[in-house]
Amino acid sequence: MTSELRFDNRVVIVSGAGGGLGKAYSLFFASRGAKVVVNDLGSGLKGEGSSSSAADIVVDEIKKAGGQAVADYHNVLEGDKIVETAIKAFGRVDVIINNAGILRDKSFKSMTDKDWDDVLNVHLRGAYLITKAAWPFMRKQKFGRVVMTSSAAGIYGNFGQANYAAAKQALVGLSNSLAQEGAKYGITSNAIAPLAASRMTATVMPPEILEALKPELIAPLVAYLTHESTTQSGGLFEIGAGKITAHRWEATEGVVFKADDSFTPAAVKARFDEIDNFDRKGLFYPTSMKDTDWLGKLELAKGLSTNVKGAELRFDGK
Ligand code: NAI
Repeated sequence: MTSELRFDNRVVIVSGAGGGLGKAYSLFFASRGAKVVVNDLGSGLKGEGSSSSAADIVVDEIKKAGGQAVADYHNVLEGDKIVETAIKAFGRVDVIINNAGILRDKSFKSMTDKDWDDVLNVHLRGAYLITKAAWPFMRKQKFGRVVMTSSAAGIYGNFGQANYAAAKQALVGLSNSLAQEGAKYGITSNAIAPLAASRMTATVMPPEILEALKPELIAPLVAYLTHESTTQSGGLFEIGAGKITAHRWEATEGVVFKADDSFTPAAVKARFDEIDNFDRKGLFYPTSMKDTDWLGKLELAKGLSTNVKGAELRFDGK
């Protein structure tokens, strides 16, 4: 048997932890010795209303089992206050699980600005604000673990979820950037796309499928990714029903056009099947902007000096 990964003396913030996945994570972390900030506004599925009872019930359960936890009832849009709760109660913050979420599913045609803003705010801005408030503490202590909750809808898009999918894909970009900026401070960030039974999925899946999708089956990955021994960062993992897959980008070999008058839409059309051909040799798997090798391609097209290629790409005019 592998030895248990424990979280003694680690302080974990779980947003949206009053039910579903967040509750499962909180119970798991507490059972492994972590001090847990159980954040939940106690709102409805669409973000309506609020109640302190959701977080309280989870904290009671943790305490009854001998664990340590405090409830926090702030909206994730007050991320600094959630981090303040952690600092006041436990003196530090080590792990952030950005998990709070709501749905406002509508076809794009019927989606209102409010449907768009509310969903983007809770998922994306909420994750940004909590992580931003914790960042200085993590940098100072040279340790931090961040998990962003994406979704298959964010990776692939989904009918009726333009707002949700946009937020969930944005969280992957946020996570990947934080992975790069946090690296020299011992801070990692990863994104997960879970599938689990909760009130969010209760209306769209039959009971026999939901039975196999217990939220507890997501916790082992989240705990692995946030353990102090784990250096994995900048990853995206789909997980559900006990199966975990890692995701990466795949690019075709591409086509280099001559940078002259011959580079026309018709020229693109003529070679589009080649550009889009994922079946032939030459596929590659970029993991950073440098890997996309577009400067290298540009060099072929324009005869630029090769010493540009290895340089760090900057977009601030330097
Ligand atoms: P859930 O609805 O049971 O849990 C979300 C929690 O977030 C609720 O307890 C809610 O009160 C809380 N919350 C909502 N707005 C908040 C706010 N402004 N501030 C603080 N708390 C707030 O849903 P579930 O399924 O547990 O979802 C957790 C996360 O996983 C969400 O981000 C969701 O989008 C994501 N996800 C879930 C999937 C699933 O299969 N259940 C699939 C893909 C992603």
